[in-house]
Amino acid sequence: MATSRQCWKMHTSDLVIFIALPAVTFCFLLQQAVALSTDPVEVVALNTIRRSLNDPLGNLNSWNSGDPCTSNWNGIFCYPMAISGYLHVQQLQLLQLNLSGSLAPEFGQLSQLQILDVMWNKISGTIPREIGKITTLKLLLLSGNELSGSLPEEIGYLPNLNRLQIDLNQLSGPIPKSFANLISVKHLHMNNNSLNGSIPAELSRLPRLLHFLVDNNNLSGQLPSELSRIPNLKIIQLDNNNFYGSTIPASYGNMTTLLKLSLRNCSLQGDIPDLSAAPQLAYLDLSMNNLTGLIPSGRLSDNVTTIKLSHNLLDGPISSNFSRLPQLQILSLSNNRLNGSVPSSIWQNKASIGNESFIFDFQNNSLTSVSGSSSTPNNVTTLFFGNPLCANPVQANVVNCKPQTVSPISGSITGFKLSCPSCPKDLDYEHNPLSPIPCICAVPVRAGFRLKSPGISDFRPYVDKFKVDLTWLLGLHVYQLYFDVYNWEPGPRLGLYLMLFPDNTSQFNIKRSVAYQAILSGWEITLSDVFGPYELLNFTMGSYSSTTRSAINIHNIEGFTLDEMKRATDNFNNSSLVGHGGYGKVYRGILADGRVVAIKRAQAGSLQGANEFLTEIELLSRLHHRNLVSLVGYCDEEDEQIVVYEFMSNGNLRNHLSAESKEPLNFTMRLRIALETAKGILYLHTEADPPIFHRDIKASNILLDANYTAKVADFGLSRLAPAPNVEGASPDHVSTVVKGTPGYLDPEYFLTHKLTDKSDVYSLGVVFLELLTGMKPISFGKNIVREVSIAFRSGRTFSIIDSRMGSYPSDCVDKFVSLAYSCCQDQPEPRPTMSAVVRELENIWKMMPESDVLQSDPSVSGSEKPSTPLCSYPHLSSDVSGADFLSSVVPNVTPR
Ligand SMILES: *[C@@H]1O[C@H](CO)[C@@H](O)[C@H](O)[C@H]1NC(C)=O
Ligand SMILES: *[C@@H]1O[C@H](CO)[C@@H](O)[C@H](O)[C@H]1NC(C)=O
Ligand SMILES: *[C@@H]1O[C@H](CO)[C@@H](O)[C@H](O)[C@H]1NC(C)=O
Ligand SMILES: *[C@@H]1O[C@H](CO)[C@@H](O)[C@H](O)[C@H]1NC(C)=O
Repeated sequence: MATSRQCWKMHTSDLVIFIALPAVTFCFLLQQAVALSTDPVEVVALNTIRRSLNDPLGNLNSWNSGDPCTSNWNGIFCYPMAISGYLHVQQLQLLQLNLSGSLAPEFGQLSQLQILDVMWNKISGTIPREIGKITTLKLLLLSGNELSGSLPEEIGYLPNLNRLQIDLNQLSGPIPKSFANLISVKHLHMNNNSLNGSIPAELSRLPRLLHFLVDNNNLSGQLPSELSRIPNLKIIQLDNNNFYGSTIPASYGNMTTLLKLSLRNCSLQGDIPDLSAAPQLAYLDLSMNNLTGLIPSGRLSDNVTTIKLSHNLLDGPISSNFSRLPQLQILSLSNNRLNGSVPSSIWQNKASIGNESFIFDFQNNSLTSVSGSSSTPNNVTTLFFGNPLCANPVQANVVNCKPQTVSPISGSITGFKLSCPSCPKDLDYEHNPLSPIPCICAVPVRAGFRLKSPGISDFRPYVDKFKVDLTWLLGLHVYQLYFDVYNWEPGPRLGLYLMLFPDNTSQFNIKRSVAYQAILSGWEITLSDVFGPYELLNFTMGSYSSTTRSAINIHNIEGFTLDEMKRATDNFNNSSLVGHGGYGKVYRGILADGRVVAIKRAQAGSLQGANEFLTEIELLSRLHHRNLVSLVGYCDEEDEQIVVYEFMSNGNLRNHLSAESKEPLNFTMRLRIALETAKGILYLHTEADPPIFHRDIKASNILLDANYTAKVADFGLSRLAPAPNVEGASPDHVSTVVKGTPGYLDPEYFLTHKLTDKSDVYSLGVVFLELLTGMKPISFGKNIVREVSIAFRSGRTFSIIDSRMGSYPSDCVDKFVSLAYSCCQDQPEPRPTMSAVVRELENIWKMMPESDVLQSDPSVSGSEKPSTPLCSYPHLSSDVSGADFLSSVVPNVTPR
C-alpha cells in the first residue's frame, strides 16, 4: 500500500501540483490504473448488439476479437479514463455502414454512452425502451432507417439528451407527453414518419428546445398555442400533417426568437396571425392551407427571405409593405383571391442588388392592375398568369402573363478549370481548385452534408457566408473547403457534397480526419442560425495504411506514439533539450509533418497515474486562448507521459528580464506582455469550464512566441477551481496544502491555506513588479514587494524602474506601478479582480502614444481612438523621435 507521502513525492516538482482529492483517494486511483479494459457488462452488451445486426459488408469485423476500447473496434470510442476501474464506451458511431437487423435491448447496458449514432442504415424493428436507461446519453441519432412501432415513453426521461433525431423512419403512434421532461433537448427531429395524434401542449415546458421538426407525419388536432412559451424556439416545421379545424395560434406571431415557421399543407384555417412581433423571422411558409382573410398589415422582420402564402383563400389587396424587406428572395402569393392593384414598388427596389435573382409570384388571383413604374428589373421575375390584368392588353404587355412553375434554384458554383496533370489514383488524390498553390495532389476528406431546414430560398448570396462560417468553425482556411454543386431537395433541404483539403501536406493525418468526423457527427459546431440544422449523410477520409486509430479519442488532440516522439527529438537527444526541472525535461521537437513543438517528458519519479494524466490532458484540450500555450497532443505509452505543446521560440519572460538578456524589452512590450498574460489568466478564471486557478503564475511560466506574444504555460498542472457544493453555490475558495513558488505566493493563502482567484492576482502583481523593475521576486534576501512598496510610499517609485527598458512614458508607468502595487496587497479584498486588472491595463494601453502601440502589435491595440489623454515621454531627449528611439531598442519583432 502506497502511503500518502509517496503520492506527494510523485508530484513533487518545481511546477507545483496541487491535489484536490484527498491523497488517499489519489493513491487508490494510481494503483488500479494498470491494464485498462472495457467494462465486462458492456463487452457482453456489445456482442449481443452485434449479433442482432446484419453486416453484409463486414464493417464490424473488428468487433470479432479483442477488447472494444483498446483494440480499435470500428465505431467505438471510449472515455480516455477509467471510471470505477474500467473503460466505458462513450460513443457508438455507426453512420452509414449498410447495417440491417434490429437494435438490441442491450443498448441499455451501455451505461455511460453519450452518442448513439446508427444513421443511414437499414435497421428495422422498434426502438428499445431500454435506451431510456442511458442517463448520460446526449445524442440519439437514428435517422434514415426502417424503424417502426411507437416511440417509447422512456426516451422522455433522458436528462442529458440534447438531440433526438429519429426522422426518416416508419415510426407510428403519438409523440409521448413524457418528452416534455427532456430538459436538455435542443433538437427534436422527428419528420418523415407516421406519427399520429396531436402535438402535446406539454412540450411547451421544454426549456432549451431550438428546432422542432415534425413535418411529414400524420399529426392532427389543434396546434398548441403554448409552443410560443418555449423561450428560444427558432424553427417550427410541421408541413404535411393534417391539423384539420385548427387555426394558427396568434401567439406564434410574437415569438421573439422564431426564425422559421413552416406549416405548408396542414389543413389549417382562419386568419394569418400578425407576425410583426417576430423580429428574427426569416422564413414563412403557410402555403397550401385554407387560410382566409386579409394578409396582416403588420410589417415583417427585415430578415425575411421567404414568404409563401400560395394556395389559400386569402383576399383583399396586396400591401406595399412587402417592398421594404431587404433580404426578400421569394414572395409567393399565387392561387388566392387577392384583388386590387399591385404596387410595383414591391420589386422595383431589388434592381440595385448584385447577381441575385428574385421571384414574385402572383399567379391565379383577381388582381386588376399594377401601379407605379411598369419596368421590371432584369434580375426580377414577376408572374401574373391567371389574373384579370392579363386580359388588359396594356398591362399584359408590361408584366409577365405566361404560366410558370417556380422551382428552387439549384446550382453549381461557377467553374474552376484546372489544367493540371492527373493525380495518382491510389488514395483518391485530387486537385483543390481553390488552393493558392494549384496542382498539388492531395487527399480530401469528403462529407455528404445537408441543411435540413434552411431559412433561405436562394443559396447563391449565402455561399460565401456559409464557407466562412463552416471553415471558421472547423479551424480551416476558406480555400480548404470546396464544393461545386448544391441541390435543393424536397423539404426544402439543401444538399451539398463537401471536400476538406489539407493545407501544405498531401493528406490530413488520421487523427485529424477522425477529429473532423467527430466534430461533424457529434454536432460540435453550430452554423449561423440562418442555415438551420445540418445533417451528415456520409463521411469518407481516403485510405490510410494500417496506422492504428487511437482507441482513446480525445477530440482535437493528437495521440502520438513513442516512436513519433523519439523521431521528433532524435531519440531525446540532449541537443534538443530546452529546459528541465523536477518533473522532467522539455525538448524542442520536429514532427514528421514539419511542425516544431515543445515536448515535455515526465521523468520516472514524477509520473502521475494514467487516469490523472489523461484527465488532465482532456481538461487541457478544452482550453483555447490566444494567450495560453496550446496543447498539440500527448503520448501515453510504455510508462511514458509526454505532453506536446506549441513551441515558443522566444523562451520565457524571466530570461528576457534578467541582467544577462542582450535585447532588453522596452516598456511598450512589457505592458503588452502584462496585458496578454492577464487576459490568458482571466480566461482560465472565467471562461474555462470548470474554472481554473493557475496557482503558479511566475515569470518563467510566461512564454513568448516568435512575435513576442505572451502565453501562459503550465496551467494544466493546476487544479480546478472549487466545484459547486450540493446546494449549487460555489464555495469561494479551496482549502489546500500550500504549494507555490517562493516570492510569488499570496501571503493570505500561505497563512490560511485558502486559495482564491485573488491568489493568482497577487502572483501576477509580482510579475508586474518584475516587469517594472527587472528584479527577481527574491534576491539577496530582498523581497520585491517590500522594496517596491517602500519606494512607492516614499514617492521614489521611479528610482527602482528598470533602466534597461530605456525611455518610457512616465504617466503610463505610474499607472502600471499603482496597479501592480494594488495587486500585491497582503489582504485579498483590496486587490482588484482579474477582470479589473485586464480593464486597467487596457486603459493604460489606450493611453500609450500610438506609434509605440502600432510598432508593438496592431492586433492588441483595438480600433477605438483613445479618449483619454496620451502618456508622453518626459525623459526623451529632443533629437530622437519616439519611433526611431523605439526601433533602436525593440528586439527584431517579425511582423505577422
Ligand atoms: C419526407 O417526406 C416527403 C413527403 O413524403 C418527401 O417528399 C420527402 O422527400 C421526404 N424527405 C426525405 C428527406 O426523404
Ligand atoms: C394512431 O394510429 C394507430 C394505428 O397506427 C391507431 O390505432 C390510433 O387510433 C391512431 N391515433 C390517433 C389519435 O389517430
Ligand atoms: C403574444 O400573443 C398572445 C396571443 O395573441 C398574447 O396573449 C400574449 O400576451 C402575447 N405576448 C406578448 C409578450 O406580446
Ligand atoms: C436579423 O436581423 C438582425 C438585425 O438586422 C440581426 O442582428 C440578426 O442577426 C438577424 N438574425 C438572423 C437570424 O439572421
